[in-house]
Amino acid sequence: MGEDTINLNHSKLGTQEYWDDLYKLETKNFEENEQDIGECWFNDSDAEYKIIGFLNTCLEEQEFVETINESSTIIDLGTGNGSLLFEIRKNSDFKGKLVGFDYSQFSIDFANKIKEKNFGDDKDIEFKHLDILNNKNWYNTDIPKDYDIILDKGTLDAIALSDNLYENDFRDNENENENENNKKLLKGIEIYPKIMEKIMKKNSILLITSCNFNFNELKLIISQSTKKLKYWKRIDYPVFEFGGVKGSTICSIAFIKE
Ligand SMILES: C[S@@+](CC[C@H](N)C(=O)[O-])C[C@H]1O[C@@H](n2cnc3c(N)ncnc32)[C@H](O)[C@@H]1O
Repeated sequence: MGEDTINLNHSKLGTQEYWDDLYKLETKNFEENEQDIGECWFNDSDAEYKIIGFLNTCLEEQEFVETINESSTIIDLGTGNGSLLFEIRKNSDFKGKLVGFDYSQFSIDFANKIKEKNFGDDKDIEFKHLDILNNKNWYNTDIPKDYDIILDKGTLDAIALSDNLYENDFRDNENENENENNKKLLKGIEIYPKIMEKIMKKNSILLITSCNFNFNELKLIISQSTKKLKYWKRIDYPVFEFGGVKGSTICSIAFIKE
């Protein structure tokens, strides 16, 4: 890995086919046993619990960020079975709209089934089919707009394992000639920060939880493709030591939009 670039080899976890197959299987398991809601990523590190604890603390300490309040709209990128949003509804004082996006229609159908069983037709929890890396998709009228808190647990990790390329319709600088200075096609981890910068409003928060990238790598991924997303806070996880090297298995970093 170079000092200023971050690359991961692509793998099946970077393909939509993999996720479609997984959620088809998990739906079948759920239909046989309603206690089985499938895999929640990073549960062995208590990620959901830590993330919700972090959000609750931001709320309780009344951080001077107007976007964090009981009515905040929270979205979850690559929501999978929707578990993070369900746990937020059950274990936090956030009462606003919760919206999960995923590019696998099977994830959306699965999350809706779990929702129906546990929350009935609660209109404030929604799941929407969306490839978050396709800039044009965010203009879809069916997609809710105006988010205060954006969560990503394991989705940037999956994106980094994909070899898909995306149309770059962003300019880094108003004066730049797009054709000359900007690459036409970008990898997922290059377009992701640009999309986030676009959909985020001032003082909204993006909290990314990753097992593929450490603190410095995640900061670099975001900072090298955007100017307005700044490091805000991080969640601490237990540190292990192996062969004289210290590290955490996962990291969660919050960025704020200036
Ligand atoms: C590692 S799983 C994490 C699932 C869930 N966030 C969790 O923590 O259990 C990655 C998720 O991202 C979704 N995903 C990957 N690329 C995506 C994209 N471009 N747009 C929307 N969802 C995507 C996959 O379908 C999958 O549900």
